[in-house]
Amino acid sequence: MTVTADQTDFSDHAHLGDDDLSGVWRRGDQVDAAALKQTAGAFPSGVTVITTVQGIQPVGMTVSSFTTVSIDPPLVLVCVDRRASCLHAFRIGAPMGVNVLGCEQGPLARTFAGRGEDRFDGVEYRAGPHGVPLLEGTSAWLSTHIDRIYDGGDHQILVARVHAVHRDDTPPLLYHSGRMHDWAVAAVASRAEQH
Ligand SMILES: Cc1cc2nc3c(=O)[nH]c(=O)nc-3n(C[C@H](O)[C@H](O)[C@H](O)COP(=O)(O)O)c2cc1C
Repeated sequence: MTVTADQTDFSDHAHLGDDDLSGVWRRGDQVDAAALKQTAGAFPSGVTVITTVQGIQPVGMTVSSFTTVSIDPPLVLVCVDRRASCLHAFRIGAPMGVNVLGCEQGPLARTFAGRGEDRFDGVEYRAGPHGVPLLEGTSAWLSTHIDRIYDGGDHQILVARVHAVHRDDTPPLLYHSGRMHDWAVAAVASRAEQH
């Protein structure tokens, strides 16, 4: 499948401020949304739950768009849909936990992507550095503070500075083509195919 879009030249917009950019993004956006999602889904990732606190209330949301940006200074980013109801809790200066889910935590990923109910109800977690909720049984966690927020079209790009990290032996949950996969099961299946 090949899908093309009009080429967009951003070079003459370097002088524009953040507020002007959303207009610039709209140029040359003819790629079909479903085709883009399907194609981007070929790129596998892990699954995280980003967390913060609002007053004394824990807040959390499933996010697969986690990326390391820089080692020195230590920066990471996540992209959050502008329509996400908890986006306002992830503001500049707020502490943010990045919980890298383990291979058996698919149900947790669905809980933290679901609507309405208290997402932390029945979930085992503890307060980490700066009070960020850290979920039990994850592969790793990073404790951060949100440093900058950039316009990313229908998403916002949250760039956060990392203060503390922890890695466990639990294999990670994988996300590919819109589905979550158990790392161990995927590894066994791929080995079986090779023989
Ligand atoms: C595996 C998985 C990965 C996701 N990745 C993202 C992501 O990177 N960014 C995002 O904004 N939403 C992502 N979502 C969807 C959000 O978790 C979901 O829309 C959000 O929690 C809805 O929150 P709300 O009901 O409070 O608005 C993902 C969902 C799943 C199941």
